Amino acid sequence: MGAPSLLDSIKARDPAARSLWEIALLYPGVRALFFHRIAHAFWRTGLTFLGRLVSELGRWLSGIEIHPGATIGKRLFIDHGTGVVIGETAIIGNDVTLYHGVTLGGVAVNAVTGRRHPIVEDNVIIGAGAQVLGAITVSRDARVGANAVVVKDVPPGVTVVGIPAQVALPRAKTQTFVPYGSPCDDLPDPTSRAICGLLNEVEALRRRVAQLEAERESAVPGWKQEEPRPAKLGS
Ligand SMILES: CC(C)(COP(=O)(O)OP(=O)(O)OC[C@H]1O[C@@H](n2cnc3c(N)ncnc32)[C@H](O)[C@@H]1OP(=O)(O)O)[C@@H](O)C(=O)NCCC(=O)NCCS
Repeated sequence: MGAPSLLDSIKARDPAARSLWEIALLYPGVRALFFHRIAHAFWRTGLTFLGRLVSELGRWLSGIEIHPGATIGKRLFIDHGTGVVIGETAIIGNDVTLYHGVTLGGVAVNAVTGRRHPIVEDNVIIGAGAQVLGAITVSRDARVGANAVVVKDVPPGVTVVGIPAQVALPRAKTQTFVPYGSPCDDLPDPTSRAICGLLNEVEALRRRVAQLEAERESAVPGWKQEEPRPAKLGS
């Protein structure tokens, strides 16, 4: 099966959506993307004034400001949208979700990349009012909590909250994992009970390692690449 269309993907992500018609005609995020595609095409061919003009029209009609230079992947869903600002050198991957009030904003130009806005990788969700600032990367599958201020790279798959944003382990996930929601104690077979207990233990340890790695990554970016490989046994 192929990838879903933008409208189908929005319907799947928004419990309030009633029909594809409603999404196509009434959702400001869809309107903003329509104008951005045109503005970006002008921008890329050097017609920067026309690009800015179309982008400005899109802002009037949607309340969402996307710089015509921003690079946007497939199926971006900007929900509600009012107050969203996406800067010139921002890069957004596929299937990203942004809520209202999100800024993908610039700070100083990165001397290496020449960029000043964030990269947001595939499947990232950024909560309402969050500010993501500078030439940083929010890695794939990460989630940014509402009103967070993100100023450092976010590792893949984690949730960050607060000001400045830090990795948060969701309450439920710090507890022991319970497969299918059934506690091991309820299993009648002792072997199954033991395996269930071991799986729970492995899952808890896996989460703890992921948390420690994420903390180390925010303290020492790129440490995984720098870490010397352990010597082979017997060598
Ligand atoms: C960040 C978020 C994704 C976390 O969801 P989750 O993985 O289910 O995590 P939990 O709700 O279990 O929360 C984990 C911890 O982070 C805290 N937390 C959650 N969201 C937070 C936020 N936005 N800011 C600060 N702390 C937050 C919780 O209090 C909890 O802390 P604790 O364990 O010390 O009590 C979610 O809270 C969020 O902000 N989503 C955006 C929603 C949004 O913008 N909706 C707009 C719709 S119109």
